[in-house]
Amino acid sequence: MGVDVLLGLQWGDEGKGKIVDFLAPGYNVVCRFQGGPNAGHTLKFGGITHVLHQIPSGIFRDNIQNVIGNGVVFDPVIFKNEVEKLSEYNIDLNKKLLISKRATLILPVHRLLDSAMEASKGKDKIGSTLRGIGPAYQDKIGRNGLRVGDILAQDFKKRFHHLTNQHLDMLAYLKFEADHKESEAKFFESIDFLKKFQLMDTEQFINTAIEEGKRILAEGAQGSLLDIDFGSYPFVTSSSTMAAGACTGLGIAPSKIGEVFGVFKAYCTRVGSGPFPTELQDETGEQLRKEGAEFGATTGRPRRCGWLDLPALKYVVTLNGVTQLFMMKTDVLNVFEKIKVCTHYKLKDGSMANTLTYESLNQDVEPVYRTFDGWGNLEVNEATTFDLLPAQLVKYILFLESELKTPINIVSFGPDRSQTLVRK
Ligand code: IMP
Repeated sequence: MGVDVLLGLQWGDEGKGKIVDFLAPGYNVVCRFQGGPNAGHTLKFGGITHVLHQIPSGIFRDNIQNVIGNGVVFDPVIFKNEVEKLSEYNIDLNKKLLISKRATLILPVHRLLDSAMEASKGKDKIGSTLRGIGPAYQDKIGRNGLRVGDILAQDFKKRFHHLTNQHLDMLAYLKFEADHKESEAKFFESIDFLKKFQLMDTEQFINTAIEEGKRILAEGAQGSLLDIDFGSYPFVTSSSTMAAGACTGLGIAPSKIGEVFGVFKAYCTRVGSGPFPTELQDETGEQLRKEGAEFGATTGRPRRCGWLDLPALKYVVTLNGVTQLFMMKTDVLNVFEKIKVCTHYKLKDGSMANTLTYESLNQDVEPVYRTFDGWGNLEVNEATTFDLLPAQLVKYILFLESELKTPINIVSFGPDRSQTLVRK
């Protein structure tokens, strides 16, 4: 039995948290493999909304081991806050959560650097969540980083100060002033807190679990269009958000990957800067934002909204080897009389592209749309089956499936666990 991978196929915020929580009872282990607290995975059940940043979305289910893998950049201060928020739910986190000793630590100075570098970019800023993600990955790749396992070393404080001082020099060069002392004290408090958890070689745990035939789900963060290699560079995050990232971010062989679940919204959103061919800067975009409550779960920023972008989806379905698609937030489109889907881009030289290319990412392209009739209001609950859906919606789903050459096996109609239609 392999490791199934669940990925966002757009610019993040596709609803991965909800689906991981929904699927979790079918798994023994749920793992995060990349990203860090830039993620905000929202789960809703029993009338309560939970937002998880670093802790995997399987945490609320019984009998599931949750793993923070080596590919994650880990902020101990945010982790402590997250754990404290969960304290009222009686979850035995010391037992249910394993943290890789190889995960890279986000230091307070990484956050400051993130802000300083964004400020220095002026109008070209990336729109980072400012959680220190880029600078922490820079230290990892530059072979300077500190890792979770290092907190147990005698000389951890010395190494912390050595690295921090190097970065403070950089901050001085960038003329970025900030008081570092207070955040340093909080950091060491949270390091002591972290020591109480199970810090280990999670790759060993995962590979043993595979051998024992356990079912494992790898929970992607952000989305494929924010991937460091294949996203709209430089307006991307600093990790491999694609299926391959699960191998390096957990320590598993490609041959161990089973299903690849691709999660996408029935329309598109993006936070931060960068190309967004189908963006709607008009009343329709405003309506999508309002109906979809499109405001960031981590930063609260309003998300940019637009119609579904098939060329981009086709590209990442191929690169990820997606085997099943899950369409989210379908209910948000209920209010629209006409619904558009971008099928091609018209490039500056007049040629058409039906997938993403280096050229299409680096110029303003004109989206070419196909228009569908809306399906009106519909209520979906546990009793709803696919054949009870309105014909217009079925037409929309079948069109996307035929274009993407991949089945859409889950259609979601709201944030709650119960508003999820599984196609048999
Ligand atoms: P960073 O990863 O915080 O540096 O942000 C880089 C880009 O990715 C920015 O445009 C962010 O808005 C975007 N981003 C990062 N994490 C998420 C996420 O979880 N959802 C949506 N966008 C994200």
